[in-house]
Amino acid sequence: MKKQIPIMKPYFDDREAAAVAEALKSGWVAQGPRVAEFERLVAAHEGVGYGVATTSCTTALHLLTVTAGFGVGDDVLVPSFTFVATPNSVEYTGARAVLADVDPATFNLSVPWLESFLAENYAAGDDGYYHRRDGNRLAGIVPVNLFGLCAELPAINRIAAQYGMKVIEDSACAFGAMIDGTHEGGFGNPSALSFHPRKSITTGEGGMILTDSEEFAGRLRVLRSHAASLSETQRHRAKGYLLPEFDEIGFNYRMTDLQAAVGIAQMEKIDLITAARRRLAGRYDRLLAERVPWLIAPYVPAGYTHVYQTYCCRIRLEALGLKSIEEGNRFRNAVMDLLETNGIATRQGTHATHTLGTYRGRYGYAAYDLPGAYESDRLSIALPLYVELTDEDQDRVIDELIRSAAVRRS
Ligand SMILES: Cc1ncc(COP(=O)(O)O)c(C=O)c1O
Repeated sequence: MKKQIPIMKPYFDDREAAAVAEALKSGWVAQGPRVAEFERLVAAHEGVGYGVATTSCTTALHLLTVTAGFGVGDDVLVPSFTFVATPNSVEYTGARAVLADVDPATFNLSVPWLESFLAENYAAGDDGYYHRRDGNRLAGIVPVNLFGLCAELPAINRIAAQYGMKVIEDSACAFGAMIDGTHEGGFGNPSALSFHPRKSITTGEGGMILTDSEEFAGRLRVLRSHAASLSETQRHRAKGYLLPEFDEIGFNYRMTDLQAAVGIAQMEKIDLITAARRRLAGRYDRLLAERVPWLIAPYVPAGYTHVYQTYCCRIRLEALGLKSIEEGNRFRNAVMDLLETNGIATRQGTHATHTLGTYRGRYGYAAYDLPGAYESDRLSIALPLYVELTDEDQDRVIDELIRSAAVRRS
C-alpha cells in the first residue's frame, strides 16, 4: 500500500511525553506553573507583554468579545472566509456578526470592500456610527490572520480608529506571522492564538490571548477562572483556608498544566518547525510555478512574513479553459477525490461562513453577496504541509496533482 500523506501531522518527539510525565509526577495537573511558563514563552516569542492561556482559540475569542463589551444591538465585522468559530465568538455575546468580503489573493479581509461597505451602511451619530437601516451600533471588527498571513492590520487599525471600532485579531493560524518585522499581536490589538493539532504547534486543544496591557491580562485571568477574586495559586500559597468571592459571571477556560507541558516542549522546537514549514512552502512555490500552471500558489505581499499554517492554493480557471466558479469547483472536488483515493489528503481552505446554514439562515445571505469569500471557498485547495513531509512526499503530491487533473480532463 502507498504511504498515506495527511494534510497535517503534529511534530512530536520524546520531549512531549517526558514533559507530560513530569507534570503528572508533580501532582499539579490543572492550571499551574507550567501554564505560566508556556504563557511567558509564547508572549516573548511574539514580542508581546503578556499571554493568557485558554482551552482553545474559540474560548480566547469569547473572552475578548465579552471584554470588548459587545452585546445586543452591536455590529461586529468579521471576514466571511474563516472558520465558523470567528463569527460565533461574536454572536455568543448577542452582537451581530456582519460578514465581510475577502481578497481571494490573500484570503484576508478586503480593505477596499470594508471602506465602501462602512461608508454605505453606517452613519455618524452622537457617540459613534450606527447602521443606517436598523440603527445597530458599529462596535468592532475581528480581522483574521488566515493560514499564517497577517491581514492588512495597519490599514484595518486606521479604519477602526476612524469609525470607533474595537479590534480583536483572530490569530488562530498565525503564530509567528509578521508585517515588517512586527509579529501578530504586536499591532496594539489583543490577539487570539490556537494550539489545535492543525496549527504549527499544538497542545491537543488550547489557545492564548496576547496583549501588551498588564491590567487587561489580569482581567482576562480572572474571567477565565470563574471570575474568582483569588487565583488557585494565591489560595495554595495561603497559610489558612481562603475562600474567593465571585462578583460577576466568569468562565472555566483554563488550560491544564498537562497541555502546557506539551506546549513548552513544542516551544523548544518552534524555530525548527517554522523554518521547515517555510522551506517546504518555498519548494511548493517552485514546483507549482514549474509544473502546475492551473494552481495559484499563496501570495505574500511585500514586507509580510507568511508562516504557512496552511499552504492554500487557488484553481486558476483560465489555465483550464473553465468559465465559472462552479465549473472550477467541480474540477477541484474531482481532483481532491482522486488524490484522496491515492492516499494524499487535501482540503478546501476554509468556509465562506455566509454560505453555512447558521449565517445563511440567520441573515439571508446569497452566495454571491460576498464574491471574494465565495470564490475562496469554492476554488481553494490546501496541500499537505508538516515538518516530516519529505521532498519525495512533496514530489508525489505534485505528480498526483498533475495526474489527477489529466484524468479529470480526459
Ligand atoms: C481562523 C480560525 N479561528 C478560530 C479557530 C478556532 O480555534 P480552536 O479550534 O482553537 O478553538 C480556528 C480553528 O481552526 C481558525 O482556523
